[in-house]
Amino acid sequence: MSPIDLKEDSDFTRGARAVIALPELGGSRRNVEARLDEAAGLAEAIGIVVAERLNFRIRSPRPATLFGKGQTETIARAVEEAEADLVIVDAPITPIQQKNLETAAKAKVIDRTGLILEIFGERAATSEGRLQVELAHLDYQAGRLVRSWTHLERQRGGFGFLGGPGETQIEADRRLIRDRMAKLRKELDQVTRTRALHRSKRQRAPWPVVALVGYTNAGKSTLFNRLTRAEVFAEDLLFATLDPTMREIALPGFDKAILSDTVGFISELPTQLIAAFRATLEEVIAADLIVHVRDISHPDSDAQREDVETVLAGIGAGGEGQAMIEAWNKIDSLPADELDRARAGAVRRDNSVLISALTGEGVDELLDCASVHLRKGSNVRTIALPAGGGEGIAWLHAHGEVLAQRSDGMETELDVRLSEADWARFQSRQLKRG
Ligand code: GTP
Repeated sequence: MSPIDLKEDSDFTRGARAVIALPELGGSRRNVEARLDEAAGLAEAIGIVVAERLNFRIRSPRPATLFGKGQTETIARAVEEAEADLVIVDAPITPIQQKNLETAAKAKVIDRTGLILEIFGERAATSEGRLQVELAHLDYQAGRLVRSWTHLERQRGGFGFLGGPGETQIEADRRLIRDRMAKLRKELDQVTRTRALHRSKRQRAPWPVVALVGYTNAGKSTLFNRLTRAEVFAEDLLFATLDPTMREIALPGFDKAILSDTVGFISELPTQLIAAFRATLEEVIAADLIVHVRDISHPDSDAQREDVETVLAGIGAGGEGQAMIEAWNKIDSLPADELDRARAGAVRRDNSVLISALTGEGVDELLDCASVHLRKGSNVRTIALPAGGGEGIAWLHAHGEVLAQRSDGMETELDVRLSEADWARFQSRQLKRG
């Protein structure tokens, strides 16, 4: 008997009819309609037909089903009436809740994490993306196996020695997942190494790197295309961008800069995915400037900003020493009074520019602003190193932009443009070397 189908979750997506059930758990400041829209958008992005959208206020979440008894019945009735085969719970649920809800609704149930994993699975375009997603998916499945195994154990009275096919099965499944994950990690290692090589080559060419980040559907790809005139896959599908795309752009005052488009951020991004995507987001960590693209016309624009900033902080990006500006996008779809308010807000800050990636309005100002912020942090310094300081010279070449280098046999003198952070790093490095 085949122990487990590693792709088992992929068969319920395309063409499936779904009921979306949004539990309002309190604490969320987000607009319910916008949350339902987002969940529906995520589902439709992988070809699921949304037949019904329901939201429920949850006073105290039930360990067995999350939803209350009457609410669970409402979901079951909606499934029957809509002839749905799938319930999407727009929150993370435990394996036990999933199983009980499946029994009650007589339909397959997936949670938000499962849904996002499905989307990532469909959108992963490069080999690295695919490996990362599969790894994240297996990690998610393994977590579920372990937990439901404990649950089964408890049902049987906790006597592991009773054994039986169920337990052997789960053991075999776990082993299979473990082996596959180990193999994937090895492959991923190889791919990441190759990419790191490319990256250091790019850094040696002294061009600043600008990374676009933003909530999913904020308009990153549209802006990227406008700035690079590249035909990157942009459409009204969430997560249209999964793997970073790098292109050259012209920035005022710079010979060249590299623009990098990244995966869309989302609230409650599964932790397994954050870890798995670290390599992808490394482009962001290494960037000289982060441009946070925001859909300023979205009702939850502020909450989306917080989500993006939380993820950035989680991967160690956007902190001190790394410039960040905001592109307040989609001004073309703002009503006049809101546009006025946004303008007043942006004027008070030196790091926010109103734009429409669609019409091109404000894009030149954005480039100027990017240029100013890129220059802010870096200064040209003349640094003298004694002969034999090859390592220091190499470091400066790797981290700064070496504009000139003179050598007289005794010492080497370099004119280097360095960010403030890298200057501090260089000094501490030299101190340590005595
Ligand atoms: P992900 O790949 O999901 O992260 O999305 P993204 O941030 O790359 O968004 P994308 O560029 O794909 O745009 C999402 C949707 O917003 C598309 O339908 C775009 O046409 C639309 N859009 C982007 N910029 C603007 C804008 O300035 N105004 C308006 N009205 N729509 C825009």
